[in-house]
Amino acid sequence: MEQPLDVPELAAGEFMLRPWRLSDLPLVREASEDDYIPLITTVPSSYSEEAGVAFIERQWSRATTRAGYTFVIAACSDRPVGHVGLWLKNLAEGRASLGYWVVKSARGQGAAAAAVDTVVDWALSDLRIPRLELWVEPWNMASIRTAERAGFQREGLLRSWQQVGDERRDMFMYSLLNHERCCPGSGRQATAAAPWSGS
Ligand SMILES: CC(C)(COP(=O)(O)OP(=O)(O)OC[C@H]1O[C@@H](n2cnc3c(N)ncnc32)[C@H](O)[C@@H]1OP(=O)(O)O)[C@@H](O)C(=O)NCCC(=O)NCCS
Repeated sequence: MEQPLDVPELAAGEFMLRPWRLSDLPLVREASEDDYIPLITTVPSSYSEEAGVAFIERQWSRATTRAGYTFVIAACSDRPVGHVGLWLKNLAEGRASLGYWVVKSARGQGAAAAAVDTVVDWALSDLRIPRLELWVEPWNMASIRTAERAGFQREGLLRSWQQVGDERRDMFMYSLLNHERCCPGSGRQATAAAPWSGS
């Protein structure tokens, strides 16, 4: 059997990215009260301790099954404020995707910006993934700004791309290529011998 992924701790300016802990249940509870987060994630829409623990266990299982890296975004005080995931389903084709959310009480303080910047840098320079992708609904200006300030470029509108709640929704497709951002001057680029390629 393949080794589980090792989810590192990553410094993210005034924030920290770290693996999920059972003590993060209050974060799951607040996220479950959000109008939107449960629609686009597996955060339970109706919170109970059992459902919260199951959510955290699901995050751990992403590493065991190598589905992806999932991080808690924590403030320097260690208060957990959000989540960022790097999903590896299409890694064999050299692509990974990002997803992120921050609870309402912590928004507008740079948490998503810091977290996405940090995961992008790590994915491009350490994991040497050739292409990062994400999908955003056209109304979601906060997420669009978060993606664009990290260097993602809009590629187009994917019509009726995803089921969100009761409806099919359009999504903007965004991407960021390794050579567009990776470690200026270091000469590190995506190569056939990248750690993920299995070669
Ligand atoms: C999108 C989300 C993660 C942003 O989190 P955040 O921590 O508040 O974002 P930040 O404070 O780091 O701000 C990042 C950028 O978005 C901008 N921004 C934040 N909230 C905004 C809003 N309501 N409207 C427009 N721009 C906004 C910020 O100004 C900043 O851009 P700038 O550097 O150009 O000024 C958060 O709103 C959220 O969790 N929303 C619900 C879940 C979601 O939509 N996830 C993304 C799915 S694709």
